[in-house]
Amino acid sequence: MLKRYLLAPGPTPVPSQVLLSMARPIIHHRSEDFFPVLDSAKKGLQWLYQTKNDVLILCSTGTGGMVGAVNNFFNKGDRVVVINGGKFGERWTEICQAYGLKVKEITVEWGYTVAPEVVAKVLKKTGGIKGVFVQASETSTGVYHDIKALAALVREYDDTLFVVDAISALVAHDLKTDKWGIDIMVGGSQKGVMMPPGLAFVSVSGKAWVRARSSRLPKFYFNFIKERENLSKNQTNFTSPVTLIIGLNESLNMLRAEGLQNVFKRHKRLAHATRKAIQSLGLDLYAKESPSNAVTAILSPPGIDGQIIYKNLRQKYGITAAGGQGKARGIIFRIAHLGYSDRFDVITAIAGVEMVLKEMGYPIRLGTGVAVAEELLLG
Ligand SMILES: Cc1ncc(COP(=O)(O)O)c(C=O)c1O
Repeated sequence: MLKRYLLAPGPTPVPSQVLLSMARPIIHHRSEDFFPVLDSAKKGLQWLYQTKNDVLILCSTGTGGMVGAVNNFFNKGDRVVVINGGKFGERWTEICQAYGLKVKEITVEWGYTVAPEVVAKVLKKTGGIKGVFVQASETSTGVYHDIKALAALVREYDDTLFVVDAISALVAHDLKTDKWGIDIMVGGSQKGVMMPPGLAFVSVSGKAWVRARSSRLPKFYFNFIKERENLSKNQTNFTSPVTLIIGLNESLNMLRAEGLQNVFKRHKRLAHATRKAIQSLGLDLYAKESPSNAVTAILSPPGIDGQIIYKNLRQKYGITAAGGQGKARGIIFRIAHLGYSDRFDVITAIAGVEMVLKEMGYPIRLGTGVAVAEELLLG
């Protein structure tokens, strides 16, 4: 028997109470059976997002939310800034370009975070920028960008929207949507909110809703003005993914019971213990600064292919972590500590890494990283 452990940065494990809640019979989405369910999910997401703004719930993966964040607020030819420090930064550029926006990329070396001063300079120099796009946690590199600082500088421009992909950061990082002034923030169900894939969430500020009125880009499935109208009646534009929204309520209830600040503290602690344990093995983190609390990206030792580490963890020990993406493929492997994750997930991951590396000939004393993680996760 090979017991499976899901320690990837999405999809992440789903608690059994959430899975069981989704085993209920299907209810009709335009009925009194469903309205309170959507109402509760809507309020739960506002709590999680720390916002009084609408948080739309879309039946799609996170990328659908990213597409909607572009085609509902911009026009062909609009000049926008994309902060591109990894695979998902690249995706913002691709989506913006698909809709004919003119992208000015601020490229950030993979493994590094963007310097807010650089963004400030570009905004000042270029002028007329309609939006700034960034990832909160760049899952491909394990780096967190300083959303608070970036929001503060974009806020100085009345005609610029600040658009954040928080698909892997939501739940793992304390993102204060209203307080910091984030205009549009995208989340996804299969990450921190401990749900299966299939839902995207998008918060929209008052400033962004004003902009939405003048957006002429083609839209049909992702039509946010229509979604907003429906949401006010506890409905969605098309058939609601009722089962997923029932599960979402259950997972939001679990997070609420833990308390928002405790949720963030847990992620911070698990991420810290993972990093220290990994470093105690003589391995280096891929994130050279500002590491994410959602996922730790680790440089594989010289001569050892990161994809093989990933493969051995999975095939020999049942641990599904992640390899590298794009140009980091083969160079790194990644361990998530996101969502339904606790100290024994970290200890399992570190133990697995030690065993795999030892078998691959990397000099290691078994238990070194596990001991470090245990020390840090006592009590
Ligand atoms: C930061 C980030 N953005 C976007 C995505 C894409 O989300 P999805 O695969 O749900 O479309 C992911 C998923 O891994 C992600 O981590």
